[in-house]
Amino acid sequence: MYSIILLGTGNLATHLFNAFIVQSQVRIVQVYGRNPERLKKFESRVETCSDSTKIKDADVYIIAVKDDAISDVAQLLYSKKGVVVHTSGAMEMDCIPLTNRGVFYPLQTFTKGKPLNFKDIPICLETSENSSMKLLRYLAEQITNNVHEIDSEQRKKLHLAAVFANNFTSYLYQISKDICEKEGLPFSLLRPLILETAEKVQIMHPHEAQTGPARRGDLGSIQNHIGLLENEQQTKIYKLLSEAIQETHEKKL
Ligand SMILES: NC(=O)c1ccc[n+]([C@@H]2O[C@H](COP(=O)([O-])OP(=O)(O)OC[C@H]3O[C@@H](n4cnc5c(N)ncnc54)[C@H](OP(=O)(O)O)[C@@H]3O)[C@@H](O)[C@H]2O)c1
Repeated sequence: MYSIILLGTGNLATHLFNAFIVQSQVRIVQVYGRNPERLKKFESRVETCSDSTKIKDADVYIIAVKDDAISDVAQLLYSKKGVVVHTSGAMEMDCIPLTNRGVFYPLQTFTKGKPLNFKDIPICLETSENSSMKLLRYLAEQITNNVHEIDSEQRKKLHLAAVFANNFTSYLYQISKDICEKEGLPFSLLRPLILETAEKVQIMHPHEAQTGPARRGDLGSIQNHIGLLENEQQTKIYKLLSEAIQETHEKKL
């Protein structure tokens, strides 16, 4: 059985905790967080600690804190023997200033309070030591059937692609919601469309799946939409995306 310590109390730490706590081959020794209030939800199930000098020994330390804080948190573990990994798609493995280091990056969007099944979530691994790769692979395979070895350069590109696929679309949903609400229309009218958009690209190339006025070159409809937008930023986004779609589909606005 392997022991792990989770460092962080946010979205991903909470999901990793829920995924690992039910595994018989993994023992969560401790959850560390700088804010004792945020540790409360873990207290009934595992030992918690907000004093970095009291972090215990474990085979693996999983740092799931804000990207900018990874190096500082890793330094708290300089005397530890286990492998220290971060969970970020955007950060190089070498931001951990320790010899036995790695990355354990689950490619999914995690929010506290929205349960997820890890089984199909890709986990991207990288390690400085071969023996640590074996250990991380074993750990990852306890919670998912989708494990990949991906180096820092590739992972940064993958994360960039994920930002387009998830962060930007979420922002576009927000714009859709604002437009609906201003008109007194429920955002729920768009939910079937949002689901179908995501489901279609599971079986089709995104280029083939594209529809709409920009894809068809319906200039009148595009101009009507631009006329309806009251917000300058939304107008810029609308024009930029419409032009990009048109160029990809080789029709001029
Ligand atoms: N959420 C996702 O969808 C997702 C997906 C894949 C990978 N990741 C990676 O997972 C990591 C955590 O992301 P998250 O979304 O879980 O973030 P989050 O919910 O915002 O939680 C951030 C955590 O970092 C801690 N923290 C922030 N600054 C710190 C500091 N200076 N020292 C110590 N702890 C600090 C916070 O503690 P306080 O509560 O005390 O501020 C909190 O526990 C990031 O590296 C991210 O790239 C996230």
